[in-house]
Order: sequence, then C-alpha cells, then structure tokens
Amino acid sequence: MLNDSSGQREQLNEVNWGCIDDSADAQGYADYLARIETSLFFRKHQRHFFDAIPFEKGHAILDAGCGIGSHSRAIARELGVEGLVTGIDKSSTMIEAAKRIPIQSGSAGLQFETGDIGALRFPDEFFDGIICDRVFIHLENPAGVMNELRRVLKPNGWFGLTEPNWSKLVLEPSSPHTRLLSKAHGAAFRNGSIGREIKALLSDSGFAIHLEKELSYQSEDFHANWRLTNLERTITDLIDRSILTPEEANNLRTSLEKAEEEGRFRFSISWHICVGRKQGVAS
Ligand SMILES: C[S@@+](CC[C@H](N)C(=O)[O-])C[C@H]1O[C@@H](n2cnc3c(N)ncnc32)[C@H](O)[C@@H]1O
Repeated sequence: MLNDSSGQREQLNEVNWGCIDDSADAQGYADYLARIETSLFFRKHQRHFFDAIPFEKGHAILDAGCGIGSHSRAIARELGVEGLVTGIDKSSTMIEAAKRIPIQSGSAGLQFETGDIGALRFPDEFFDGIICDRVFIHLENPAGVMNELRRVLKPNGWFGLTEPNWSKLVLEPSSPHTRLLSKAHGAAFRNGSIGREIKALLSDSGFAIHLEKELSYQSEDFHANWRLTNLERTITDLIDRSILTPEEANNLRTSLEKAEEEGRFRFSISWHICVGRKQGVAS
C-alpha cells in the first residue's frame, strides 16, 4: 500500500460504492473523495461539466449521489444566493462528512440528506436541474434510477450526467500486464464503461439531448494517477486471484515508476458528459 509523506493511507481497499455504510472502512471512502476533490483532474473536469450545464441563478438543483458534496458546494457558489442545492447520498457517512465542510459565503442555500436516488421523497416536477457524477457506474438499475430522477424534474428541466468509460483506460508503455491491469480495473466497477451509454440512457428515458461530449484526459504523472484511480487495489485483487504473482505486480509497478522518471509514462482516461432536457409540458 502506498502512503503519503505524512504516513496517511492513500489507497482505498474496496470498491463497493453502492453500500458504503456497510463497510468497516466507510470513512475511507469519504477521505478518498476528499483527496479527489483537491486534484487538478477533478477541478478541470468540474469546469468542463459546469460549462456544459444550462444552470441559471435561482435554480433549485439536485446533486444526485453527492458524496461529500464536492459539486454541490461548487455549484452553490456559482448559483448565487437565490438558488437552492440539495445533495442526496445513500451513505450517511458521506452526508455527515458533507455537512462538516464549511460553505463559502455568497453561496446558494445548500442542504444535504441521506436517501436513495432510486426512491426520492420529493414530489413530481420539483427541481430545475439535476447533476450527477460517478454514480450510475455503481447502480444496479440505471434505467430505473433515470426514470425516478426524471420524475422529480420540472418540464424542460435539465439533467447533467457525467461518467467515465474505464474500458478506454490506457497505461503506457504498454505491455501485456498494463493491458491486464486496465481491463481488470474497469471490470471492478458494476458498470465500468457506462460513460459511453449515458446518452442512450437519457434519451431512452424521454430526455431530448442538449449536449454530449467525450473528453480524454492525459497525464505523465505516475504517482498521482496511481493514487487517484486506486490502481493499487486492482493490483492487490489480481494477486489475490492468482492472476499476477506478487513479483510480477512489483515489476509492473516499478517499470511504470521508471518509465515516469524517463519521461515515457502516459496515463489516459475517457470521460463523458451528457445533458438532457425533460420533454413535456407542466401537469
Ligand atoms: C464515486 S462517489 C461520487 C460522489 C460525487 N458524485 C462526486 O462527484 O464526488 C459515488 C457516490 O454515489 C453514492 N450512491 C451510490 N448509489 C446510490 C444510490 N442508489 N442513491 C444515492 N447515492 C448513491 C455513494 O454513496 C457515493 O457517495
């Protein structure tokens, strides 16, 4: 396991994002999201995401599966004082962590609550907009949840959804073991390549597609990306399943570290953003 200079743990040992509170390491998931929130990648992607969303001052917005509220707080800042952002997450550990983080003055109203986005307490046509990042990748029933989210949107309300497509993870210099690791990493998620399906999910649920983008992010920083994408956990899993020996795993890690030192390391991932508008008139 990799540790940072303060000795703090840098990896999350599990990827069971659908039932975090059942984990003995529930706080580890919240800490992991806090590390991601401060990364350059997250800030860059959040900018692309918000630029794609047609939000307006005064909107009531749902952050579906908000985690520790990284996007909720940021969009509340951009909305201005008149808006209202509601962050919902299934995990009470996440919601407690979200509530502890201070809110910047001049932000829209912000509230966090525990709940399942597949069965919301809100009436029909309640929100002007919904944002959702890296939640559909974990859902058992993405189409059912999509319909529930559509229900709570006002007519012509917008839904901004962003998800990765892990089947396009590339680690270079490429070798049979880097390709094995990339493939195993995507397979560790319930819906690891859902990024490429979000447009169809939105349109099948009756949304008119307002915008769709595929973004590709590249980096030459081995350590930051290894840590942020939790690749050590995937390596551990490959060892536990006797697919890689500990020696092969160590060789893979050190060969990528060496490639970084020599300027040959490349990391690339694909991320989709899709925004849909709810069709229909007010009931
Ligand atoms: C990878 S995190 C992403 C958090 C946040 N959207 C962000 O961008 O930082 C996935 C979150 O989805 C939540 N989640 C998973 N299934 C859910 C469900 N059915 N209802 C509500 N939240 C859910 C998890 O508890 C977790 O906090």
